[in-house]
Amino acid sequence: MRIVLMKDTPPRLEAPEDFKQFSIALDERLRSSAIAALAPVAEPTSDAVTHAWVRPDAIRALSSMAGDPAWTEDFGKMCAYAESKGWTGPKGAIRAHIDLIPATHPVSPDDFRNAMRKFASGVCIVASGEGDDRRGMTVSAFTSVSAEPPMVLVCLNRSTSSHDPISTAPVFSVNILSGLQEDVALTFAGRTGLRGADRFDDQWTSSETGAPVLTTSHQTLVCTPISAQIAGTHTVLIGQVIATSDASEGPALMNYDGVIKATSAAPATLQ
Ligand SMILES: Cc1cc2nc3c(=O)[nH]c(=O)nc-3n(C[C@H](O)[C@H](O)[C@H](O)COP(=O)(O)O)c2cc1C
Repeated sequence: MRIVLMKDTPPRLEAPEDFKQFSIALDERLRSSAIAALAPVAEPTSDAVTHAWVRPDAIRALSSMAGDPAWTEDFGKMCAYAESKGWTGPKGAIRAHIDLIPATHPVSPDDFRNAMRKFASGVCIVASGEGDDRRGMTVSAFTSVSAEPPMVLVCLNRSTSSHDPISTAPVFSVNILSGLQEDVALTFAGRTGLRGADRFDDQWTSSETGAPVLTTSHQTLVCTPISAQIAGTHTVLIGQVIATSDASEGPALMNYDGVIKATSAAPATLQ
């Protein structure tokens, strides 16, 4: 396993199932502030910042497998092995090597955006709240995650006004737009000047669960949040699907190469 500490990103644990490796990857831009960067999980063993004492509780808190009894047992064995080898320090902290990771960005944000324009996607409105507290934004970063249980994810820019209310809501909806709903996409992308609850017109209703539902959508999924993980500029919000609407027929709205338009009416059927 490896603890990854990158600038402007919360600590994360890679490969928690790998008990044979144990190290810290530290963004080299954090070198001069290494003590503060390490603080959520560890403290340096010396001024040289080549090794750190990592708190086992911090690893448990970061591990995506922490609820798995087999992982908990194996992690306990790893801690015991480290102790038997003399690799433990204050309060059972485990010694880890620190690798400095170069902060090179060979792909600029514009290069990245241009590359992603070549990926055709659908367009949805992600929405939450009731009455005057309703908030919604246009999103194309939406994908299926799991069928059992049914889960989806959306990526929400943290700088948007809709981000905080939607990413902390107890329930949210994903309303997939039909080919006739370019105007809805523009409204919820802030292009018509409408903000907050003013974006919602009489095509919207409230689901039994409390999330706004676009009655004219191509398809709506209502979700409860499972996790919200910060990744760079965005939050990856994963939701479990608790209800779906009836689907409408006809073209969907597509986002491709910087343009939104209806898909052709007769797509090939995948088996
Ligand atoms: C076609 C299209 C797709 C978009 N996809 C996303 C997306 O996946 N994630 C995101 O955060 N913003 C996306 N946006 C931008 C947001 O819709 C826009 O920033 C919106 O105004 C944010 O909400 P706010 O006005 O409440 O701040 C998209 C915009 C358009 C037009």
